[in-house]
Amino acid sequence: MSRLDSVIRRLSAQRDILNTMPERLKALPGPVLEVGLGNGRTYDHLRGLFPGREIFAFDRTLNAHPACVPDEDHLVLGEIEETLGKAKDWLPAPAALAHLDIGTPDDEVNRRIRAFLEKTLPQIMARGGLVVSDQWLRSTRLTVLPMPDAVPAGRYYLYMASGPDRG
Ligand SMILES: C[S@@+](CC[C@H](N)C(=O)[O-])C[C@H]1O[C@@H](n2cnc3c(N)ncnc32)[C@H](O)[C@@H]1O
Repeated sequence: MSRLDSVIRRLSAQRDILNTMPERLKALPGPVLEVGLGNGRTYDHLRGLFPGREIFAFDRTLNAHPACVPDEDHLVLGEIEETLGKAKDWLPAPAALAHLDIGTPDDEVNRRIRAFLEKTLPQIMARGGLVVSDQWLRSTRLTVLPMPDAVPAGRYYLYMASGPDRG
């Protein structure tokens, strides 16, 4: 498979799974988190899918297309280990959806980020909230859900959160 094929398959998988989110989450209130704003393409898609929801977008720097820049109350710049780590203190409600698109070619960086996300996401997601991730995550508070048939195995992962630990 060429790298072009691979990118197309990855982005198609991303869009296919995200397109199922409004129906799955129609009964669950809460904001949407876009972790890895990048160019803002997925953010643009998400705001079309979720016109009534707050969407908070995270990235270390702003590189988004000018038409896809969130307002300053919804743009969170900095390393996610810093910003997402503190999000439970200021999010208006636990998140209904988190979309993660932050993988790098560096396995060691990915391992560190995964460990951080496995610890942090359960604390900021609503009970029943969904995590759509380009990273394979393992946490007793994130239940693996099957992907739609259209999404090739290993491209994207879907989890349901059991909600913040109140203990
Ligand atoms: C593949 S791009 C996201 C593309 C985006 N979904 C789009 O539609 O354009 C990944 C983004 O994650 C950001 N990123 C990766 N690791 C990060 C980290 N540890 N903290 C903050 N941002 C990070 C990068 O700066 C990059 O913009």
